[in-house]
This record gives sequence, C-alpha cells and structure tokens, in this order.
Amino acid sequence: MVKVSVIAGDGIGVDVTTEAIKVLDVVNKKRDLGIELEHLDYGADRYLKDGTTLPAGEIERFRKEVDAIYLGALGDPRIPDMRHGREILLAMRFELDLFINLRPVRCLADHLCPLKSKTAADIDFTVFRENTEGLYVGMGGNFKMGTPDEVAINEDVNTRKGVERIIRAAFSYAKANGHKMVTMADKSNAVRFAHDLWVRVFELVGAEYPDIEKQHLYVDALSMQMIKRPEQFEVIVTNNMFGDIVTDIGAQLQGGLGMAASGNINPDGVSLFEPVHGSAPKYAGKNVANPIAAILTVEMMLEHLGFKVAAKDVGAGVAKALEENQVPAELGGELGTREVGDFIASAIA
Ligand code: IPM
Ligand code: MN
Repeated sequence: MVKVSVIAGDGIGVDVTTEAIKVLDVVNKKRDLGIELEHLDYGADRYLKDGTTLPAGEIERFRKEVDAIYLGALGDPRIPDMRHGREILLAMRFELDLFINLRPVRCLADHLCPLKSKTAADIDFTVFRENTEGLYVGMGGNFKMGTPDEVAINEDVNTRKGVERIIRAAFSYAKANGHKMVTMADKSNAVRFAHDLWVRVFELVGAEYPDIEKQHLYVDALSMQMIKRPEQFEVIVTNNMFGDIVTDIGAQLQGGLGMAASGNINPDGVSLFEPVHGSAPKYAGKNVANPIAAILTVEMMLEHLGFKVAAKDVGAGVAKALEENQVPAELGGELGTREVGDFIASAIA
C-alpha cells in the first residue's frame, strides 16, 4: 500500500486538484497501483476557522506514515500576509528537507510555444531550484519599523552542504538522463561571498563529471538566454530565489503557468508535488482553471513513486487532450476545468 496525502488548499487549488485526483483514481484502478489517498483540509478556510495551519506533530506523521504529498495551491485574499501559506508549504519544504525543487520546462505542442521562430522541440530542460536555503529562510528582521529610519533585512543564507547537494543532484540527474551540459546560475559578480560559494562548489562537483559540460551564467543573462536561445539548456541549477523567478519564465515557455508541474523532493524521504501556479482566487470555482499542470504533477508523482507505466499513461492522456484540442480557453480550446479532467481520465481508462 502506498499512501498519498492530498491538500487541495485554496482558490483554484481545489478546482485543479479535483481533476488531478480524478485522473489519479483512474490510473490507480487501471494499473492496480494500490495507492490510498487521505484528504486534508489545510488552507485558508481551516486557518480562519480555528487558527490551524499544520497541526502539531503533522510533519512527523508525514515523515513516518506517508509516501508522498500532493498539494493544489495556497493563497487567499483574506490572509494578505500569506501566513498560512508559509506555515504550510515553506514549513514542509524546510522540515521535511525537500531540498530539490524539480521543475521541468517542457513545451508539449508547437502552438503553445510563445517564441517566434522557436518550436516545442526547442523548449525541453529541467530546473533544479534549491528549496531549503537562501532568502527564504526568514533570517533577519526590522529595526525602527514604521519610521523613516527603518532598516529591513533578510539574509541570503547559503551553506556548503546545501549548495553542494543541489548541485550534485543536478549533475547526477544529468548523467542518469544522458545530458551533455549543466548550467549554474548565480549573481556572483555582485553578491560576492554567498554566490562565490556556488562558483567554487560548481567547479568542485563538476570535476566529478568530466563528460558533462559546465556552463556558468549570471542569472540576468540566464533569463535573457531562456528567451533568446532556450534550446541550449538541458539542466539548470540555481538558488531558491532565482529558481522561483526563472521557473515562472519557464512556465510561460511551456504555454503558461497552467502547464507547469513541480516536485519538492527529498531523495531519502517523503516528497511533495504541486503545480507551479498559485491559487488565482478570482478564477476559483468558475470551472475555467487549466488543470493540466496539476495533472502533469500527478505524472511526476507517479514517476517518483516508481509507477513508470502509470506515469506514461497520464502523459499520454495529456498529449491526447492537446492533440485533439480538448483543452481550456487559455490554450485555445473550449472546455472547462472539469471537462478537461473528464477527457483525460476517460482517455486513460
Ligand atoms: C512557488 C511559490 C512559492 C515560492 C510561494 C507561494 C511562497 O511562488 O512555489 O514557486 O516562492 O516558492
Ligand atoms: Mn513561484
């Protein structure tokens, strides 16, 4: 038995997770995977009701009892500072040590490619975003807050261990998948101490992979090259903050945020899977959100759990929806969220 916790979360997180789970149910039955789901109500409503973000002991329970976590999206205008989002998503990333944020950037159809003179074949790479350090750790504070002399600081925290393990993960993935180049992006021309560490560790770890070409780009140049010549990229590794930004650019190269899947991975523990997009509150409950990113996230989760054939089924279902234009308006089709989920589920069944 394989146990998956499902947190639909807020806004369109609920709409797209319903479709993703519809697809998961079908493939679970078809391939007899033995996946058992538990649905958890963490998110804005629960937080506003009783103040719970993640209950005490929940992280420990995930660690012991659960094989994977599936998350829709978090974010609600009633909680402007996103406190619940940080306490749920970022806490899981930190405390479950999900140090790899794996974000494939793959354009699945030519008509989704937004770049003139490029085709889907030109957009196919994977971003390894460091997911437990950097500007996200919340070290810092305010001084003289609310006065004209206010000082506000967030430290960019980079450890040798943290930088080394994400760079090694990128190289080891590149080797396992026959890639010829790994690109590392930082801003070491301006952020000397912290990002020099990335330069040095990239060289050290890279030396263990003599057959793989090493490319170093400053993150501003990377952003430009992703638009100008995306076909050069195979594997990109970068820090938490830059990874957040460049994977939103990457999502547009795939046809929009509605197409981008991600995994928050601890290779030795429980991992968490979520579409890259947020909760888009104004589209919630209207049957307009694109569920494909959420469904491709199921594909990633199945792959990670070792259900390779089932993962292929899901990928093939999405490919069929794109071929036959059984997609939402944002991709040029006429279907709603539910109808796309229905089409992909029955294509698999
Ligand atoms: C993402 C999101 C999160 C992040 C937010 C919701 C904290 O943008 O998963 O990319 O910045 O990591
Ligand atoms: Mn983001």
